[in-house]
Amino acid sequence: MCGIIGYVGPRDARDVIISGLRRLEYRGYDSAGIAVVADGRLSVAKKAGKLANLEAELATVDFPVAHQGIGHTRWATHGAPTYENAHPHVSADGRVAVVHNGIIENFADLRAELTEAGVHFKSETDTEVVAHLLAAELQSADGLIDAMRAVVARLQGAFTLVAIDVTRPGEVVAARRNSPLVVGVGKDENFVASDVLAFIEHTRDVVELGQDQIVLITADDITVVGFDGQPAETARYHVDWDTSAAEKAGFDWFMRKEIFEQPKAVADTLLGRFNSKGELVLDEMRGISPEDLRRINKIVIVACGTAYYAGMVAKYAIEHWTRVPCEVEVASEFRYRDPIIDPQTLCVTISQSGETADTLMAIRHARIQGAKIIAICNTNGATIPRESDAVIYTHAGPEIGVASTKGFLTQLAACYLLGLYLAQVRGMKYADEIRVITDELAHTPQMIQQMLDGADEIYQLAHDLASAEDFIFLGRHVGYPVALEGALKLKEIAYQHAEGFAAGELKHGPIAIIEPGMPVFVVVPPAGRDQLRDKVLSNIKEVKARGAHTIVLAENGDDGIEADADLIIRLPHTSTLLQPLVATVPLQLLACELATELGHDVDQPRNLAKSVTVE
Ligand code: F6R
Repeated sequence: MCGIIGYVGPRDARDVIISGLRRLEYRGYDSAGIAVVADGRLSVAKKAGKLANLEAELATVDFPVAHQGIGHTRWATHGAPTYENAHPHVSADGRVAVVHNGIIENFADLRAELTEAGVHFKSETDTEVVAHLLAAELQSADGLIDAMRAVVARLQGAFTLVAIDVTRPGEVVAARRNSPLVVGVGKDENFVASDVLAFIEHTRDVVELGQDQIVLITADDITVVGFDGQPAETARYHVDWDTSAAEKAGFDWFMRKEIFEQPKAVADTLLGRFNSKGELVLDEMRGISPEDLRRINKIVIVACGTAYYAGMVAKYAIEHWTRVPCEVEVASEFRYRDPIIDPQTLCVTISQSGETADTLMAIRHARIQGAKIIAICNTNGATIPRESDAVIYTHAGPEIGVASTKGFLTQLAACYLLGLYLAQVRGMKYADEIRVITDELAHTPQMIQQMLDGADEIYQLAHDLASAEDFIFLGRHVGYPVALEGALKLKEIAYQHAEGFAAGELKHGPIAIIEPGMPVFVVVPPAGRDQLRDKVLSNIKEVKARGAHTIVLAENGDDGIEADADLIIRLPHTSTLLQPLVATVPLQLLACELATELGHDVDQPRNLAKSVTVE
């Protein structure tokens, strides 16, 4: 949600910033802009719409070569996605340019105060107040850090700010509260950005900033202080993936590439977690002892969107394997209903980005009530893992397509690991079953590959369904979150009306919307859960009787469904609890292909942004 970058060094700042913004564009694509300082002058270019518009503009104007600059790609919050509201915002005296990610909650008061003092605002954004405040502070402050400290002391909300001052060539200042910011450490050059992706082609050495910190970069120095002005401790790490992870590698979309990366992503997430005796060893759990885990009497899982659906699967697995009551809740609802939490509650949070504001606020609430927090996260050093007692990292690599795919499957894998670990630590009720699941888990990357090998059949289905307008997805047990995920994928990238239901709920209302020819996808549980399977088969008959076009996801060898299935998508045999790892894949492929067929931008769907850092 808004991508920001700052650069100081010997290269042409414009090239560094534009290529950084290209990699950050998944965070927002309502407008883009750049500001540089060269020869004692501030130059700004910005355009509404995608980054390509800004690039086209830069190709026609005489934009200076500079060695210091900032850039922004916007997901609009305050003010429409227009030229005026595009960042960077410049102070009235033309001295300072600022880019911002987040929301300044008290901006209306600050704007009223500045207007009263005679400042004329050019945009409707909350960010512009920062440009004016910073310019005012710079009149008397002892440098950019001091001026930024004085400004952030007046701001409420969540923000990452990056600014340049025309009178201080070679310096970029940035501040962070509740929004992401990392520093890239180069040779004779340094970077600040929302995400490592922005500078990965130049350096893989990263300084992770903490909350409420300010950083000043020059070409050869990095100074970090707290908002209180005290020097701050920072952690440094080396990113273990390279630019190839951030390229499309011959695929038309990042999303399609990421779907096809899933066997490896899941394998990487499982790698090194079991010792030679088959026991789970989760080094990352160090912050929560086995005694802590034995003491808990309740688990709450909080997450948003696709990550929430992973949490729904986790609930089935964790309750079954550990017999600990487990709730799963949409993070944005959690803290507002005064949930019952105490020190014997374990809060599990799932977030690909590790920056989702709703999820972050939920875990902060849980912590205040005394809960221990375990994060399942894909992003090293992000805010959510930093604020958790323990982290299970998914090793999916960067997920750039806005719609989560490999993020989801690796979250499922990590949820299974957590459930198995809890069962191991607390004693297992179903030891035999757990041994089977553990073995099977190791084979899931091959099973996911089998699903991908059948992609052509799904693509054909997408072409056949291109004119359908409503889609229904049904499942029971862990098939229910798969149904929800299938519907969400279609909504977000193909803009099709799609709904997922617990199959048993159908007769309680939704069956009324079934019309002849309407595509209804049904996830059939594997053999071995016969009662569950039989109920789903009845649900298929119910919709078929009303003329639905039934597309049934059922495992190989499950016969007896042909009569009511217009199409069968075959799944490899798995245990029921692991079935989402394979059943989700064709639904991802379907959404990607259907959106492509309909001419949509799959990686940058309308109105959405990755990493939603506002509540
Ligand atoms: C859907 C999707 C979103 C995210 C949700 C949480 O495809 O990507 O629903 O799953 O915004 O994001 P994270 O996992 O980053 O907290």
